[in-house]
Amino acid sequence: MAKFIIKGGKPLKGEISVSGAKNAALPIIAATLLTNEECTITNVPEIGDVEVMLKIMKKLGAQIDFSNHTLKICNKNVKSWKPDVSLVGQMRASVVLIGALLARFGKAEVHYPGGCLIGARPIDIHIEALANLGAKIKTKGKNYSISLKPPRNKEIILKGVSVTATENLILACSKSPYTNEIRLAAVEPEVEDLISFLQKIGVRIKGRGTHNLLIKGKQKLGRASHKIIPDRIEAATLMILAAVTKSRLKIKNINPEHLDVFIAKIQEAGVSLKQGDDYFIIGPPHKLKAINIKTDAYPGFATDFQAPMAVLLTQAEGISTIFETIFENRLGYIKELTKMGAQAKLKDLHRVEIIGPTKLVGTQINSLDLRAGATVIIAALCAEGISEISNVETVDRGYEEFDKRLIALGADIKRINNSQGKGE
Ligand code: UD1
Repeated sequence: MAKFIIKGGKPLKGEISVSGAKNAALPIIAATLLTNEECTITNVPEIGDVEVMLKIMKKLGAQIDFSNHTLKICNKNVKSWKPDVSLVGQMRASVVLIGALLARFGKAEVHYPGGCLIGARPIDIHIEALANLGAKIKTKGKNYSISLKPPRNKEIILKGVSVTATENLILACSKSPYTNEIRLAAVEPEVEDLISFLQKIGVRIKGRGTHNLLIKGKQKLGRASHKIIPDRIEAATLMILAAVTKSRLKIKNINPEHLDVFIAKIQEAGVSLKQGDDYFIIGPPHKLKAINIKTDAYPGFATDFQAPMAVLLTQAEGISTIFETIFENRLGYIKELTKMGAQAKLKDLHRVEIIGPTKLVGTQINSLDLRAGATVIIAALCAEGISEISNVETVDRGYEEFDKRLIALGADIKRINNSQGKGE
């Protein structure tokens, strides 16, 4: 296990570019399975989850050239509809391979997807919707064997708002020459980005950005060049980092529209910022005050923002509350923050009260999952003294060279890998 040794308490300075969005890149990579033509995807983050997805694609038979954030991928030799079981088990987004494989082969054999343990994370919405599209589904333990003929003029109402279930359904309909309708579709920017890519390869989709999608595909889809949208979660994380370390940072390669509610909330909390077309400058002074947060589907306050936001609230004057409505196990990081001196009371699995401001102090902390990991890194950079953060591979899954990019801003972070022994 790798760990970070972080000496906190010092302001950072400079400019940092936000990476391409993980949650857009992964389904778009899966979507390339719909065409035999070569696709070029740019602004692809070089992170652990993308590496795993590309390994899965390679094992299926894809030809891949990935360097400098540009992916050239050609799937004309893909003959398998059975993605590698152990790789699929490593991340949640692998679930979208189901829709892509069903569209390409009319069948898919997949293992239950992995990912962060932030709640039950069932796939019943996916399975029920696919069944309503006409899929035949057999399960054996954690393995699914699914077949689907091109869906014909179906109207599917998803039984809950789910990002990856929406993506799966869109993909499953994208080679059918009939018009199929998806209602209660998720409208996250990452879903819109997938739709943009599919439109470029020739799928006709009406209703992008709304809860009602009409999809008319065709058997032979074409080639496309596509640039992945900026990662709004990384952008928000960096803005919070600037505020709690009392830094002046320019955060570039942002789509401000994707951050409307987040910006409104941090401004309400007293963060001072200046907005450009594709950047924000976050600068002191910040006199932070308590606010209330309730997570919601887009365009609401994203669940992925709430853990880093908790660090900001430890520095805000008064009593703040966070109400996590999407996942039931996403407040685990609070225990780590309290080890550092945060005053927080868990009301139940979904609610926490944070009393601030409190001085955070460096100690030994654990990176529980992707977002919780980024959260404790921010906390450690805000804290006085030295923190030792274990299990930082969780962060590598979704943030590209996070330590190196923060060191370039003046952060004091040392990475200790397994091979270097137990570390100091
Ligand atoms: C995606 C994002 C994740 C983000 C989440 C919510 C990816 C790879 N991950 O995850 O970063 O935090 O959206 O914005 O894009 N649910 C069910 N049954 C299902 C599917 C979901 O009950 O079949 C529930 C989930 O447990 C959760 C809620 O629906 O409570 C939303 O989940 P969903 O939008 O599906 O999240 P993911 O697609 O897993």
